[in-house]
Amino acid sequence: MKKFIAATLALTAFHALANDAALIEETKKTALAIPPKLLQMVQEEINKGSHDGAIAACNDKAPKMAAAASQNTGWAIRRVSLKNRNPKAVPDAWEQAVLEDFDRRRAAGESPANMEKAEIVTEGDKRTLRYMKALPTQALCLNCHGTEDKIDAKVKARLTELYPNDKATGYSEGQIRGALTVKRPL
Ligand code: HEC
Repeated sequence: MKKFIAATLALTAFHALANDAALIEETKKTALAIPPKLLQMVQEEINKGSHDGAIAACNDKAPKMAAAASQNTGWAIRRVSLKNRNPKAVPDAWEQAVLEDFDRRRAAGESPANMEKAEIVTEGDKRTLRYMKALPTQALCLNCHGTEDKIDAKVKARLTELYPNDKATGYSEGQIRGALTVKRPL
């Protein structure tokens, strides 16, 4: 009997783990579809030579895409950064710790390209799946997030107008600009 109970408990734990892993996979799949779409949108505007269009893609369309994805899924999806441009893009405690860990991992030589973190956190009786995907600074990003010499004067002026407390400049290629973050209630 004891053996049977132990086996049942082990199986239940195994099923719970397998279920959690499936939930994490599903969350990742949905979240990872977003950054490439955004990147493509910004790239198209830049190719057209439209600074305003590219800024609008980041300023208007990016938050809208995250809001639409949040609405479709019922999860909270947004972007955050340790040096945020949008005053609302401030990480919470869990996100801040993960962003700091991403920076440490990068400093230790890990490529930021596929850097991510998934965890199921429990607060009281609430379980939440938390997922973050690092967004590395690419050459294209320097147009709006790079050092002073990389940002066109017109772009700089528009960014200052839109974000008087902008902290999101001075980056170089390969640094982690921020992350996509998902909070999925379970
Ligand atoms: C054309 C200008 C422009 C380019 C190019 C650009 N961004 Fe941004 N970025 C912005 C603007 C504007 C915001 C603020 C958006 C908002 O109000 O939510 C922003 C916000 C962000 C945020 C959200 C956190 C924050 O600081 O507010 C992340 C993360 C980010 N950008 C990453 C990137 C990455 C990675 C690239 C390159 C792949 C990139 N950006 C390219 C203009 C740009």
